[in-house]
Amino acid sequence: MEVIICKNKDEASTKACEIMVGIVKENPKAVLGLATGSTPVQLYAKMIEDHKENGTSYKDIQTYNLDEYFGLDQSHPQSYHYFMCHHLFNGLDINMDNVHVPKGKGNVEEEAQKYNEMLAQNPLDIQLLGIGSNGHIGFNEPGTAFDSVTHVVDLKQSTIEDNARLFFDGKIDDVPRQAVSMGIANIMQAKKVLLLAFGEGKAEAVKGMVEGPKTVDLPASALQDHPDCVLIIDEDAAKLLSK
Ligand code: GLP
Repeated sequence: MEVIICKNKDEASTKACEIMVGIVKENPKAVLGLATGSTPVQLYAKMIEDHKENGTSYKDIQTYNLDEYFGLDQSHPQSYHYFMCHHLFNGLDINMDNVHVPKGKGNVEEEAQKYNEMLAQNPLDIQLLGIGSNGHIGFNEPGTAFDSVTHVVDLKQSTIEDNARLFFDGKIDDVPRQAVSMGIANIMQAKKVLLLAFGEGKAEAVKGMVEGPKTVDLPASALQDHPDCVLIIDEDAAKLLSK
């Protein structure tokens, strides 16, 4: 794991943007694994800025998102599909036929299976990740097997609370109790992994991921085995690291 500690979220998002845009420029048909949550919002704004200023094109880029809430329609303002359109896709020249977000409604098991098949046929050039305060990646909560693929998950109470704090207007009862998430094996198959973490609330999970034992109790610790994993974190998220 390469750990890059930045002064703040802005500096970290600029570095992350350089990596993402670099991949798109190198391969205009690249396959990007994308993430939601508050963490990548600034990065996405910078990618849009770059597209507008420098003309980086996404017209042949394919994207696969990590996860989606169970039971929410794509048009629901709290769905991750909606989030991605709002924060990224609407600002790029991306072809929406090349955009993939797991389906949270309908026959989700069958759709999850199809998602795995699509991922197998379209290997991810990069997977962008945030991290949950309990060490989850995607929606792979503590206890998820490292060989898991896209599946339906039960969200932990702490995750429901974390996500109600920033989204769903703070209404905890509105947060779905389940989600569909790429599994840890899907994430590990990406050629490169770029994980961002900001703020003190992530410090413990970051320490466990980097310095702790590899354990299903901290799903992000699986990344210790990834051959090309870059963490870009701010000083607050890095504060418990010993080295
Ligand atoms: C959700 C998402 C994760 C994300 C995490 C952290 O649970 N499924 O992909 O990494 O939240 O969220 P935030 O970036 O808002 O701290």
